[in-house]
Amino acid sequence: MRKIAPSILSADFGCLYEDIKEVEDAGADYIHFDVMDGMFVPNISFGLPVLQSIAPKTTIPVDVHLMVEQPERYISSFINAGASIVTVHQEATKHVHSCLQQIKNEGCRAGIALNPGTPVSLIEPIIEQVDLILIMTVNPGFGGQSFINATLRKIEEARNLADRVAHPVEIEVDGGIDESTIGKAEEAGANVFVAGSAIFSKKDRAKVIQQLRHS
Ligand code: DX5
Ligand code: ZN
Repeated sequence: MRKIAPSILSADFGCLYEDIKEVEDAGADYIHFDVMDGMFVPNISFGLPVLQSIAPKTTIPVDVHLMVEQPERYISSFINAGASIVTVHQEATKHVHSCLQQIKNEGCRAGIALNPGTPVSLIEPIIEQVDLILIMTVNPGFGGQSFINATLRKIEEARNLADRVAHPVEIEVDGGIDESTIGKAEEAGANVFVAGSAIFSKKDRAKVIQQLRHS
């Protein structure tokens, strides 16, 4: 069963709560929350105060994607603010194992994200700490980019790695997911699909979510 995670990066921040409520009511599985620091990626999005405002009103898990340098500085704060899943980038910290351990010790699900140019083999040593592998299917920083086909092989590798451990590991894909790309990402082994512009650029978000589930 596909899990759909609308990315609120493409929502209308002037009516953020309404946009979240609409996708929740439409059966979204996670709210994907993209934090960008203007350093790890060339864009700045939103952070803790926004999560503190929306998390208490959100009834589905908030999936926090930290596109920030040295995420260890903020892990506890995002968990306290209401994150259910915290994902850090392999490329953003020298201490990836300790970041994941910290996330898990604080009772949260731990994700590791890989940019398109980062090999899956790098996360083999830490797979026991991981609940979710996020394969970036665009270069992180902006919504509305095109899916990079070369990442399909990495999705397969991530799925193979996940299947080698005893605990369940989700494979999430993020970037350029729409009706035309979701099928091939699923075939390669993904089960969680982040979609920003594909959902929020349309008037009828419930219809898009249905189409994403069944296309
Ligand atoms: C990109 C973000 C994505 C973004 C995806 O750096 O991590 O979550 O919102 O946007 P779309 O679905 O428009 O490619
Ligand atoms: Zn994201």
